[in-house]
Amino acid sequence: MDLLSTIKEPVKQEIIDFNEYFNSLLKSDVVLMNDALSFLSKSIGKMMRPILVLLVAKSIGNVDEKTYSAAAAVEMLHTASLLHDDVIDESDKRRGRPSLNTRFNNNVAVLAGDYLFSMALNCTAKTADIRVIDAISVMGRDLPNGEVMQVELQQKGLYNEENYLKVIYYKTASLFVCCAACAVYTADGNAEYLEKFCNYGKYAGLCFQMKDDIFDYYSNDIGKPTGSDMREGKITLPALYVLRTSSNPLLQPIREKLSNGIYLDEKEIETLIDISKKEGGVDYTENLINHYRNLAINSIPGDIPDEYRNALIAYIDYVISRDK
Ligand code: IPE
Ligand code: IPE
Ligand code: MG
Ligand code: MG
Repeated sequence: MDLLSTIKEPVKQEIIDFNEYFNSLLKSDVVLMNDALSFLSKSIGKMMRPILVLLVAKSIGNVDEKTYSAAAAVEMLHTASLLHDDVIDESDKRRGRPSLNTRFNNNVAVLAGDYLFSMALNCTAKTADIRVIDAISVMGRDLPNGEVMQVELQQKGLYNEENYLKVIYYKTASLFVCCAACAVYTADGNAEYLEKFCNYGKYAGLCFQMKDDIFDYYSNDIGKPTGSDMREGKITLPALYVLRTSSNPLLQPIREKLSNGIYLDEKEIETLIDISKKEGGVDYTENLINHYRNLAINSIPGDIPDEYRNALIAYIDYVISRDK
């Protein structure tokens, strides 16, 4: 079986039910909002986060209405954060299609994001579980914290690995931790499950963003041109590594600009990408991804049924080997 089938196998029916439920929520009685939501429902993402909620919940208990509500809430928050992210990053593509800010405009994209945030709150309330509400609200703070920290690091030129890991925890991994926590709460799992699955979510989320960041060094299928991150002032791990370790003289003016909060020009971006690949930056990142992959697998509780363990291993392997 391929990785995606192994991931989905134990929750096949639940994924179908979830998708139906999720799509039924993407509605508004205001025509323009409804158009924006319908545009979104026609370019659905990989659903990695709700799938994690369903898998973890079913591995230790039952998937019920509360689980679906929590899974819908995390996917809505994720989608909202992408709508806002594309406005912030001025990205014109998402999911291989025009981004919502391009198809409509920034105002509609920001407001549709707000609408989804509020719908996520509503889904969270439906769980009537204060622990789920707490987990979602903590994550709702983490995401913008990560995005703002990214701006702060660019402005101050504070590029280092420690800050990078903090940003990617906030802007991406926190959402996977939240998925794990909500799943354990809705399935009434114990404290040990909570700790272990949250660790799994953390490592999977860190791997997810590092993998996404590597895409930016190559031409790829995810619908963004090479070097977009650097053009947006984001210096990710492969480049951070060579900036720290390489004695290549071409890097000196680049370091200078970055430490003064100045954006790189096209030629410098090309140079930095090239050196990051040739002098071990991408390899270093791939090694760290592999290290976190193993930590994620070691975090899977020992007593869940094999098909769920295999699905969670396939999940992390898909995260690190995906091509989009
Ligand atoms: C994109 O996430 C944002 C990042 C955290 C890198 P996904 O790649 O999961 O986005 P969709 O939902 O499948 O489009
Ligand atoms: C990750 O940020 C997306 C969010 C957590 C909102 P990026 O800006 O790196 O993500 P992509 O590459 O646009 O998906
Ligand atoms: Mg972006
Ligand atoms: Mg961004």
